[in-house]
Amino acid sequence: MKRGLWAAGAAAAAVAAVAVRDLTQRRHALLRNFPVIGHGRYLIEAIGPELRQYVVAANDEERPFTRDQRRWVYASAKKENNYFGFGTDNDIEFTAGYPIIKHRTFGRAVPRSHPEAGYEASVPCAKVLGAARGRAKAFRPGSVVNISGMSFGSLSGAAVEALNRGAAIAGCLQNTGEGALSPHHRHGGELVFQIGTSYFGCRDEQGRFDLAKLKDVVAANPIRALEIKLSQGAKPSLGGLLPGAKVSAEIAATRGIPQGVDCVSPSRHAEFSDTDSLLDWVELLAAETGLPVGIKSAVGDLDFWDELTTLMAATGRGVDFVTIDGGEGGTGAAPMIFSDSVSLPFQVGFARVYRLFAERDLHEKVVFIGAGKLGLPDNAIVAFALGCDMVNVAREAMLAIGCIQAQKCHTDTCPTGVATQNRWLTRGLDPALKSVRAANYVKTLRRDLLKVAEACGVEHPGLIETSSVEILDGRTTATPLDRVYDYQPGWGLPSKADQEAVIALMLDEPQGGSAPPSP
Ligand SMILES: Cc1cc2nc3c(=O)[nH]c(=O)nc-3n(C[C@H](O)[C@H](O)[C@H](O)COP(=O)(O)O)c2cc1C
Ligand code: SF4
Repeated sequence: MKRGLWAAGAAAAAVAAVAVRDLTQRRHALLRNFPVIGHGRYLIEAIGPELRQYVVAANDEERPFTRDQRRWVYASAKKENNYFGFGTDNDIEFTAGYPIIKHRTFGRAVPRSHPEAGYEASVPCAKVLGAARGRAKAFRPGSVVNISGMSFGSLSGAAVEALNRGAAIAGCLQNTGEGALSPHHRHGGELVFQIGTSYFGCRDEQGRFDLAKLKDVVAANPIRALEIKLSQGAKPSLGGLLPGAKVSAEIAATRGIPQGVDCVSPSRHAEFSDTDSLLDWVELLAAETGLPVGIKSAVGDLDFWDELTTLMAATGRGVDFVTIDGGEGGTGAAPMIFSDSVSLPFQVGFARVYRLFAERDLHEKVVFIGAGKLGLPDNAIVAFALGCDMVNVAREAMLAIGCIQAQKCHTDTCPTGVATQNRWLTRGLDPALKSVRAANYVKTLRRDLLKVAEACGVEHPGLIETSSVEILDGRTTATPLDRVYDYQPGWGLPSKADQEAVIALMLDEPQGGSAPPSP
């Protein structure tokens, strides 16, 4: 009884102390006016995302990824049943812009029905990366789905390791992102080395690009291609920002920067200043390393792309691949206005750029990679129909290794250890377990792409034609994809020779069929 009285007294004293503090502080009018109970508003604001996510939101409401989309990724990553029952709950009939994929009744390829079919299938790129320009180390990427650039820094070491091991299991590539190549990238997965404006991993003490260092990194690691980062959909025109809270001793050492201080990358490259000098630099890197070299960019004004394709057609210099990142793409940290409003969404931006390449007859000589929520089968299929040869997945791969879309990546408090450098939080992420999840997710997405391609009557996602997709305008009409984006016949497909080569590769895979015919 005495203990109870004592506890009640202590609680009343604590409440009184909070009330006095609220009444005397001047920073928050709400608390001054509503002492103690005003804190409820801050609590609800803090747990609002979780409340909406778990209790309030409908299956297709949340952004960037809806509950259905996350459920599909989580189930795929765990290799659990990722089917949905009772039919779609998407508002198909009334959603303008909804893509519809058109299957064929008697197509050339026959889909296999078993849920596991195609899971272990190899679905390589339909083009040989670097072949068109005769790069010494040209190669055919083994997977049409690859892991997008996310630097060690924005991601924890454990997350980078999980993705790298996952890439090795799934036979796909992992892009390093602009934060240099760390020991966490050395677990068997092959890499695309990204070169950002700070030249992390290939720079001297003054922060200048150092070709000799780049060649050393390439020689010492399983790097298959180089990607020059021009911009990123979530923050185009801005350099990178790694908040000081995330600049641990290990990251500081990897990048060659001071620990605990905001790491801001400049918004422009120092090694080139226009399209012409960019192409010179591409050719220099390709000649010095033998690797295919590409660019990654979001799409805004088209002048750059116009000039790039004009120069490529006129001079023979050129990029081996182009990665287009949509404005809906992700980032570790960016100002809201840039994430929300700067740069075109993937489909619109990609189609405009592809058209310029196609009009100059360059589209068959460049590998096109898409990013921006393309780790979902429906989005990816539209991307392939528009001319993508491969898709890169970033946040979907993060979901696969445990991200719960808490959207705190910029605060170093990521609760799942994916996007933080906090040791306590990262110790919860087991790279060995999560690598299998990452690989399962990549394999499942590949399998679904393959099955949809077969349903459309072709052997490979890269062979899906624009005529296989229509965009609903609402309840009563739909427009074919080629009309929406003003494509000419044949655009969006690899060359005839590349088509034949990839069909030959895919015929090694078993095909679906029918029950035995009646006697
Ligand atoms: C945490 C995080 C870090 C990223 N870091 C980089 C980076 O270093 N370089 C880059 O080009 N893109 C970076 N991105 C963008 C992704 O590579 C990708 O282009 C974008 O998120 C779209 O793909 P998604 O929709 O599958 O996430 C990052 C994205 C996230 C979420
Ligand atoms: S759980 Fe939240 S903070 Fe962590 S990576 Fe996912 S969105 Fe970012």
